[in-house]
Order: sequence, then structure tokens, then C-alpha cells
Amino acid sequence: MKNKISAMPVNAQGHLVPGKLSPKREVPTRIKKPEYVGKPAPAPHTTGDRYDQATVGKIRVASQLAARALELILGSAKAGMTTDDLDRIGHEFLVENGAYPSTLGYRGFPKSICTSLNEVVCHGIPDDTLLRDGDILNVDITAYIDGVHGDTNGSVIIGEGSQEAIDLVERTKEAMHRGIRAALPGREVSVIGRAIESYAKRFGYGVIRDFTGHGVGTSFHTGLIIPHYDAPEYSTIIETGMVFTIEPMITLGSHEWDMWEDGWTVTTKDKSLTAQFEHTIHITKDGPEILTEAK
Ligand code: MF3
Ligand code: CO
Ligand code: CO
Repeated sequence: MKNKISAMPVNAQGHLVPGKLSPKREVPTRIKKPEYVGKPAPAPHTTGDRYDQATVGKIRVASQLAARALELILGSAKAGMTTDDLDRIGHEFLVENGAYPSTLGYRGFPKSICTSLNEVVCHGIPDDTLLRDGDILNVDITAYIDGVHGDTNGSVIIGEGSQEAIDLVERTKEAMHRGIRAALPGREVSVIGRAIESYAKRFGYGVIRDFTGHGVGTSFHTGLIIPHYDAPEYSTIIETGMVFTIEPMITLGSHEWDMWEDGWTVTTKDKSLTAQFEHTIHITKDGPEILTEAK
């Protein structure tokens, strides 16, 4: 047992509480930073969501790095580590491979990955919170290299989980893959959320509405929105050459959410467990290509 003081991760109600952040991690000056670092918000994206083959090739490289980083982090996560330990692993991996961790300094986000435990839906900030046996851990990591971003996330259970947690994680992954398979050129983007929500509903799960998939590539979030619930008003046609994420957040309870005072950490309002998976995909004439599958 290391002699370091870490936050008690929960309060008397058993709900997660904020921990303490480590000092800011540095990125060597040789690594190119996205334009938004040090600014309150990114510049508007004006170039659409379709990319030529050369740019898709670059997004593939960024996506592969993000995928390998995610595999490394989720494979290292053990009870007794802190979420900040995971941030260090992800940060060092990306930097060693010449990439910038896209979340670091994005709209002021202070860390290189997002770590979302149990009732945290998304955008949890790595801190001195200890991982515990049975936790659902989600890690979200985005790599920026050669002018483009690749964005992925995944969930695992630390040690032995409850059957309901195991089922939630497995079915959330399946829901993401159903959404991906629905993303065929010529269809409206709303088919994706319809596929995801109709599957989640079988189990009585909630599907988060206010956080969505998004166009990604030369910008981290291009403005294109990919809902994960049935929302026919999102009628943009899926076209070949498009790149976007599909990243459903699914809960054991309601889809309503709360935010911590840090302005980032999103939790389920009813504090029910939640899981998420994310891939960056590229639309080809034959269907979706998953760019963030580790090869
Ligand atoms: N990677 C997240 C997504 O999937 C965005 C994180 S933004 C941050 O869109 F600022 F919270 F890091
Ligand atoms: Co994303
Ligand atoms: Co992400």
C-alpha cells in the first residue's frame, strides 16, 4: 500500500464526490497544439464533414493512436489506482507518439483524458479518486496529430461487477455497434439513434439525449450532431467521405442528468449507473469504417 492521501471517493449517500487535481501536465513544444488551446472556445468549423482520402488517412492515424492509448489505459486500470494515474498513462502514451491529448485545454478542460465512474455519464475529470472493485470505469481519449483528431471511449468493470453492471456495459457496446451498422450512405443521421434507442428500450434503459455524437476531423467537434435517441428532426443525409463519432451513453434509470460545480462532470440525476462506448467512423460506399478500432 502506497502512503499517499487520496480522496474518499463517495459521500454518506454513496454518491461520487470530486477529488483533488494533480498539477497540469506539460506537452513538449515540438508537439503541435490545436488552435483552441489557451482560448476560451475553439474557432468555428466551416469546412463541412466530408474529407478527401488524404485527410481520412490522417484521421485514421490519429484514431489508431487514440485506440491504442485507450486499450493501454483500460488494460492498466486496477482497484487502488487513481483516475489521475490513468490520465498520466494516456498523456505519456500520446506525447511519446507525437500526438497532443485533445481534451487538455479544450474549453478549459484541465486533463488529457476524461474518466467517468459509475453514475458519471461523461466528462469526468481525472483526480485522486481511487478505483474500487465493481466500479464501471469509462475512459474517453482523443488524439490530435497532423492537424486532425481521432476520438474514442470505452467502459470496463474494475474487478468483479454486479450482473446489472456487466449487462449494462455489454449492451451499451452492442447499442453503439447497432448505431454504427445503421450508418449507411444515403440515410438520414436519425437512423443511428433510432437503432440505438430501440435496442436500449428492450431492457428499460435510459438513453442520454443532451450529449451526442459529433462530426470530428480537422476540428474536435465540427457542429454536426449525431443523436443517440430517436430524433427524426436530425435529417442530415449520411454521405461517403463523412467522419463522425457514435458514442451512446446509456443508464439503468432515467436519461435526466445533473452537473457538478466543476462545470464538466455530468452525472445521472437519479444517480443510476451509466456506461458509454465511442468510435470515430468514416462512411464509405460499402458502409461505415471504424477508424478507432485498435489494429
Ligand atoms: N471526447 C469527448 C467526446 O467524445 C469530449 C470531451 S471534451 C472535454 O466528444 F472537454 F470534456 F474533454
Ligand atoms: Co466524441
Ligand atoms: Co470522446
